[in-house]
Amino acid sequence: MAKLLVTGGYGFIGSNFVNYWLRNYPDDSLLNLDKMTYAADENYVDESLKSKNYSFVRGDIADKELVMSITAEVDTVINFAAESHVDNAINEPSAFVKSNYLGVFNLLEAARKRDLRFHQVSTDEVYGSLSLDSSDKFGDGSCYSPRNPYSATKAAADLLVRAYFNTYGIKATISNCSNNFGPHQHPEKLVPKTILNAVGNRKIPLYGDGKQVRDWIYVEDHVRGIELILGRGKIGESYLISAENERRNVEVVNEILGLLKKERSLIEFVSDRPGHDVRYALDSSKMRSIGWAPRYEFQNALKETVRHYLDEFNLYSRKTSRQGK
Ligand SMILES: NC(=O)c1ccc[n+]([C@@H]2O[C@H](COP(=O)([O-])OP(=O)(O)OC[C@H]3O[C@@H](n4cnc5c(N)ncnc54)[C@H](O)[C@@H]3O)[C@@H](O)[C@H]2O)c1
Repeated sequence: MAKLLVTGGYGFIGSNFVNYWLRNYPDDSLLNLDKMTYAADENYVDESLKSKNYSFVRGDIADKELVMSITAEVDTVINFAAESHVDNAINEPSAFVKSNYLGVFNLLEAARKRDLRFHQVSTDEVYGSLSLDSSDKFGDGSCYSPRNPYSATKAAADLLVRAYFNTYGIKATISNCSNNFGPHQHPEKLVPKTILNAVGNRKIPLYGDGKQVRDWIYVEDHVRGIELILGRGKIGESYLISAENERRNVEVVNEILGLLKKERSLIEFVSDRPGHDVRYALDSSKMRSIGWAPRYEFQNALKETVRHYLDEFNLYSRKTSRQGK
């Protein structure tokens, strides 16, 4: 029976992980440490799954004393906690440096001093941008080339994890995943924003010409990838998680509009984000070699996702809307 500390467990991917874990490993203890930023919501963890093995502490991974004390009773740390929205990083990067870099430093110090298993949840954005008209993909061993303050803090944290493995031999792994969609994503991001705006017949802002390519994966497939790395991943290694499902942003928006039977005239092309990455794509063969494959087909998962946001419309429409990723 494992004793997990999950950080950021009330955010989008973290809460999907927590629900998955409580459902599939009810005998493990799971402590959720979350700062409860605007992106978090206590409703995201299913009440019916909260047994005596589940606990929650509201707190900040950038708080060194808290991190040291809270890790006394755990053996594994999975770090989802981060500031995650690129637009916010461009406008106000300091919180990103604090949570995404200094917070990881504190977790690594705890992992080193307490000999914990540590998994860092990272992103494909650390690799920078690919050209739109190529079929290149980032793979194991591609160089890091982050191009905005969000991806730079994530890349810096990954490098610190690697350094702690090399220097101190900590039991660490990293996953770099592509763009997630599914339940519990904040309406600042492209998919929920498109759904909520379309339902309200409001304009859907799309950066530039909307032709940027993202590699889309359903959140539960990401969660299952992390589960597999925790079980079968090699210590010291990084794993790229991707369903190898490239779509232009405008195509994703058009698919959602089609599902909702709304007009494409709701799309409003707006000035591009500074330094906007045009294309991300990942080679997931290393994940597949340890037995992982995505289970969800894009169109069906998108349909389920749309249904979720419609069912929970009041919950999400209360949250502030900003631009999409
Ligand atoms: N969303 C994606 O498509 C995607 C893709 C690849 C990797 N990731 C990574 O996955 C992780 C989770 O992303 P998400 O989309 O769920 O983000 P999110 O913004 O929805 O959730 C982040 C959670 O972390 C919490 N948090 C933030 N700073 C904290 C701190 N200092 N201490 C404790 N808790 C803190 C927030 O309250 C929130 O619950 C991030 O590390 C992100 O870089 C996201």
